[in-house]
Amino acid sequence: MLAGCSSTPAVSDSKEIKIGGNFELTGGVANFGKMTTNGIQLAFKEANASGGVLGKQIKLILADNKSEPSEATNAITKLITQDKVPLVMGPVASSNVLATLQVSQDNKIPVITATGTNSKITVDNGKVRPYAFRSCFIDPFQGTVMANFASKSLKAKTAVIYIDNSSDYSKGLAESFETQFVKNGGVIVGKEAFLQKDQDFKSTLTKIKVMNADTIFIPAYYEEVGKIAKQARELGITIPLIGTDGWDDPKVVEVAGAEAMNNTFFSNHYSSQDTDPRIVKFVEAYKKEYGQEPNALAALGYDAGLMVIDAIKRANSTEPDKIRDALEKTKDLQVVTGVITLDANHDPVKSGVVIEMKDGKQTFKEKINP
Ligand code: PHE
Repeated sequence: MLAGCSSTPAVSDSKEIKIGGNFELTGGVANFGKMTTNGIQLAFKEANASGGVLGKQIKLILADNKSEPSEATNAITKLITQDKVPLVMGPVASSNVLATLQVSQDNKIPVITATGTNSKITVDNGKVRPYAFRSCFIDPFQGTVMANFASKSLKAKTAVIYIDNSSDYSKGLAESFETQFVKNGGVIVGKEAFLQKDQDFKSTLTKIKVMNADTIFIPAYYEEVGKIAKQARELGITIPLIGTDGWDDPKVVEVAGAEAMNNTFFSNHYSSQDTDPRIVKFVEAYKKEYGQEPNALAALGYDAGLMVIDAIKRANSTEPDKIRDALEKTKDLQVVTGVITLDANHDPVKSGVVIEMKDGKQTFKEKINP
């Protein structure tokens, strides 16, 4: 039991505000962890350059969760007990976030994920988790967006759902996609599954091919998506492949090849090609700092950084409970990916985009409001 530590934040009289960062720095989705922390670091750097937060320098203390739920539990425990942080940001992947919430609750230390979209992160069996927050939209929205895209834009009448059985994210999205697709009059003609780190998808894809569906919905992460797309095209599956934010990494094209990724579409949190002035300004600043285009994770990391800074300022304190109370009241906060006002479930209501892959490049297809 770690209870009791929380009332003694070690930060109160130092010149720094230490914020915990529980991230996928190695392992299966390490690129996600890197991009998200880049975004957070940029937000903190800008705040520090313009006078800091409550007159102090804000600093991210990182712990590597190795892209594994059990390691995510270890990482949050270390950040709270050893580093004595008043708030933990991360992880990226929903299953890893879910694995930290009991420790957060027991120690009364708020957690905010910039990216974890599974609905159970903030609401557990109908009850709002008091210490869990996020700055992104949730999967019931994302699944609905892609079901509507399949029915309306692709005119799909039938779909196969192909999920990653090791991920809460994937399982949740399969449910919300199915509900909406069926509501639209569509039929799910097959459901298949794989596991993270699988290499050979061909036997399942051969089965899927004969189902003759109009599209395949693959809510998964970049490592597996690249391999699935490549192997599907090799088997002569030419129908549109559709997915969700977990596709947002250059590795997909590296693995699948640009050609295989043509006629594929996925939902995401923003597009770096959007001409909204906030986005243009962020993309410029990010490119200057890191020399590359910011994907959605970088933008979401930056936005979560802004949300933490805003909450600490309004709390006028670095005490965990005061930050928690302020986070809960986050309202009309202008960020890169939209405007954040948290609802009663600690979820923001934000718009999304659909991205089309064309010759290896992400192109902005549609913006969807909730
Ligand atoms: N939404 C994913 C999850 O919950 C994480 C993610 C966010 C991946 C944004 C890519 C882009 O696991």
